[in-house]
Amino acid sequence: MVSYKTLGLVNSRDLFKKAVNGGYAIPAYNFNNMEQLQAILQACCETNSPVILQISKGARKYANQTLLRYMAQGAVEYAKELTSGKGIPIVLHLDHGPDFDTCKSCIEYGFSSVMIDGSALSFDENCEQTRRVVEYAHQYDVTVEGELGVLAGIEDEVKAEKHTYTRPEEVEEFVKRTGVDSLAIAIGTSHGAYKFKPGENPRIRLDILREIEKRIPGFPIVLHGSSSVPQDLVKIINDNGGRLKDAIGIGEDQLREAAKSAVCKINIDSDGRLAMTAGVRKVLTEKPEVFDPRLYLGPARDMLRELYKRKNIEVLGSAGHADD
Ligand code: G3H
Ligand code: 13P
Ligand code: ZN
Repeated sequence: MVSYKTLGLVNSRDLFKKAVNGGYAIPAYNFNNMEQLQAILQACCETNSPVILQISKGARKYANQTLLRYMAQGAVEYAKELTSGKGIPIVLHLDHGPDFDTCKSCIEYGFSSVMIDGSALSFDENCEQTRRVVEYAHQYDVTVEGELGVLAGIEDEVKAEKHTYTRPEEVEEFVKRTGVDSLAIAIGTSHGAYKFKPGENPRIRLDILREIEKRIPGFPIVLHGSSSVPQDLVKIINDNGGRLKDAIGIGEDQLREAAKSAVCKINIDSDGRLAMTAGVRKVLTEKPEVFDPRLYLGPARDMLRELYKRKNIEVLGSAGHADD
């Protein structure tokens, strides 16, 4: 058993309280490799923002859980180097934990926060599984995110065709029965880069969000699938040999609006993937003689850093809040 506290990580409890009161959201960015991790930390240190580093099931399979955990531990020291010793609050979070055993294993490995995703289960089964994870996690002061409602899109290679919006009348009972620290809800965001077709006008259901907020005032709310599919990145990819289909995401203005309320964690992954792919493709097209990975992964990392800096400042509003 490794306590996250000995690694210099923090859980999400205080961060969420401050974010809800301050009208901003904490960025939750996924990482699978060193360059993504560097870009996330550089962006968050340069904007003085707290950060949630997310590790998915796919990331654990790709990069190995042990390696990823040591990278997160290194991230704490790296953040101090980038900020003249001060550091920023860093949460290490399991994204879309599929079952109790995976959550338990991550807690034992030093994660400070886990998500138990029971959104595909019945309400009662979701409550029971989530409650069990909470009971275990809270012994070690690890915070837990639960989910009600199903997002459309691709998640861990499983595709949901339709949104099943969170039912506001269920949230109070779910929170009471499970003891979760935060709640992911489905109000129109969706996973992956192919969210909506051009011409569609995707809207977050702020009315459902308001209804949920009324029933559990001040309770930390999480939005998944919050990539906006920046069209300039799609263009760079397709101008440089890529073949991405036309797609758009949720407008950043709508996410900004949600972040001003009880939404205090916003998950972004696909936009980061687009930024890195744009960076790699551009270099390899413009300089076909390049074969040193540092010469294409370096610029890709820079593109990711700039994207996430802008997100922290303009979308999440988390910039400047590392010392709250
Ligand atoms: O919600 C899913 C995240 O974007 C992680 O995706 O399982 O392919 O790493 P992944
Ligand atoms: P996007 O890939 O749509 O940004 O979603 C990320 C996410 O929800 C991770 O849990
Ligand atoms: Zn998600």
